[in-house]
Amino acid sequence: MLRFDESAARALERTYQTPDVVAQRAHVIQSLELRPGEHALDVGCGPGLLLRDAAACVGARGAAVGVDASEPMLALARARCADQPQVELHRADAQALPFADARFDVAVSTQVFEYLFDVDAALRELHRVLRPGGRALILDTDWDSLVVHASDRARHRRVMRAWEAHLADPHLPATLAPRLRRAGFQVTRREVFPIVNTEHHAHTYSAGILLAIRAFVAGRDGVSAEEAEAWHTDLRELGDRGEYLFAISRFLFHAVKPAPRPDA
Ligand SMILES: C[S@@+](CC[C@H](N)C(=O)[O-])C[C@H]1O[C@@H](n2cnc3c(N)ncnc32)[C@H](O)[C@@H]1O
Repeated sequence: MLRFDESAARALERTYQTPDVVAQRAHVIQSLELRPGEHALDVGCGPGLLLRDAAACVGARGAAVGVDASEPMLALARARCADQPQVELHRADAQALPFADARFDVAVSTQVFEYLFDVDAALRELHRVLRPGGRALILDTDWDSLVVHASDRARHRRVMRAWEAHLADPHLPATLAPRLRRAGFQVTRREVFPIVNTEHHAHTYSAGILLAIRAFVAGRDGVSAEEAEAWHTDLRELGDRGEYLFAISRFLFHAVKPAPRPDA
């Protein structure tokens, strides 16, 4: 699995500030419909980019609480949200949240559940800490949705197979809706958010993630460092020739914790 140490945290922070991921975050924030005074939880808040935006929405009367398992990520989030007293940060595991039942109005988690070994336990925890009627939004990637122009398709497939080991479930969106229901949620909406890069340049999501893939796959699953380098060079050269394509889909799941019926 990918380790979110200090250098990985800084690289992710850079990639997640590209216009591609800024637009994804704006879409998530808009979908959350946060209101002033609400208590929001961000599970796996990473460097705090979404948490900062959520805190601005709930305002000084609300609360924006982030949890993450990685101390380097939490350090970035602490620095980013230092001027927002409504932000609270905890080092904690998504599968065992350190909060009382029904503490939150809203819970969000982007690009985190795919890293969890016990997704069902984390969904039960999310359900527990939401108040009845509270809403949840989970966003994850299905790596089957990736479309890349590569000159050597067989090599590209080998690289992607090795990359799949960077998370616990590279195809989580395929099973997430029934699992949300089993945890007690009502799934209200599912949607797809695409990221499409038709040029290779530094300030894009794909440039950042290709560097992460090259570093991760080198020496894994039969992919040598030379092969990883050659794969990366090929994509960059296709970019130089105006033949670049990288497209991937994020899957968003909107859910609510049903409130008991008044006659129940
Ligand atoms: C790809 S990053 C996403 C960060 C952030 N949600 C965002 O979208 O900007 C995944 C994050 O999940 C965190 N994470 C992974 N496993 C976790 C766990 N079991 N409990 C809490 N956080 C976890 C990592 O430390 C990392 O910050």
